[in-house]
Amino acid sequence: MPALSRIPLETVEDAGGGCLRLVCAPASLVAPMPGQFYMVRGPWEADPLLPRPFSVARFRTVKNEQVQLEFLLRIIGRGTRLLGTARAGIELDILGPLGVGFEQPPGDSAWMVAGGIGIAPFPALTDAIAAPERSLSLLIGARTHTEIPGFKDFEANLSGGVEVATDDGSAGFAGTVVDLLASRLDRASDQPPSQVYVCGPHAMMEAAAAVCRDAGVPCSVSLEAPMGCGMGTCRGCVIRTFRNTNFTICTDGPVTDANVIWSDQNSP
Ligand SMILES: Cc1cc2nc3c(=O)[nH]c(=O)nc-3n(C[C@H](O)[C@H](O)[C@H](O)COP(=O)(O)OP(=O)(O)OC[C@H]3O[C@@H](n4cnc5c(N)ncnc54)[C@H](O)[C@@H]3O)c2cc1C
Ligand code: FES
Repeated sequence: MPALSRIPLETVEDAGGGCLRLVCAPASLVAPMPGQFYMVRGPWEADPLLPRPFSVARFRTVKNEQVQLEFLLRIIGRGTRLLGTARAGIELDILGPLGVGFEQPPGDSAWMVAGGIGIAPFPALTDAIAAPERSLSLLIGARTHTEIPGFKDFEANLSGGVEVATDDGSAGFAGTVVDLLASRLDRASDQPPSQVYVCGPHAMMEAAAAVCRDAGVPCSVSLEAPMGCGMGTCRGCVIRTFRNTNFTICTDGPVTDANVIWSDQNSP
């Protein structure tokens, strides 16, 4: 059973690209898996009533076996706006860790593909899968260069490098991050990555999954939907798979093999 904890916020800082980094004070928590998430609510009154889901962006075990959680946040609506105005010292109600996280890559190279704030779970994933013999790359895309979240704090572990894509061509590759993924897979056809991890808007992940399928590369996605409970009770996050079965994002995911959700027309 996931625990509900009341944890003071230690710092709130600019994370670049219009995103914020929220670092909680160390607390007695179960360490999460990268890709797992927490339902988070600040000390505001009734509106919004429900907590909001956030991937763990990073975590570290500090003295006395306490765990320090870090979240990356993009302001979307009322809940994220209130969290964005939170200051150090306020207490957050945090439920988790929840859901299914990322698995280790099967081989010695992996690419992470992020659409905007979809970068959020990748610092923790990088910490968990970095190894001297493993090449890790980040492909990050946004509409324009001012919307690219910062990645400097985990770039040192990205031995395969970072490539940026902007829809308007204002930085890096001109086009979507899925176009960049397709072009890079094409160039690496003799040495493809053992795993591609994707996090971003639903349509972007579906397109990235199709590109990976065509290239014969395994693809994990971290799915998103508005969530009420985060624990499989409210049914608010259920989507239909290509097999016409239900997939409850908060408990069956958010991380899953892309072929569970989407597949080509030739599948049985
Ligand atoms: C598993 C998971 C992990 C997430 N991790 C992060 C993270 O690390 N950092 C981060 O900034 N955000 C993350 N999100 C998204 C974040 O939860 C939403 O942006 C937030 O709930 C919006 O709340 P709000 O009150 O600000 O907006 P609301 O007022 O609730 O919604 C504003 C608009 O956004 C739409 N919307 C809300 N949530 C989602 C969603 N999840 N997917 C698609 N449309 C949505 C609503 O339908 C509405 O149109 C994650 C979502 C999930 C499901
Ligand atoms: S958020 Fe309630 S069932 Fe998934």
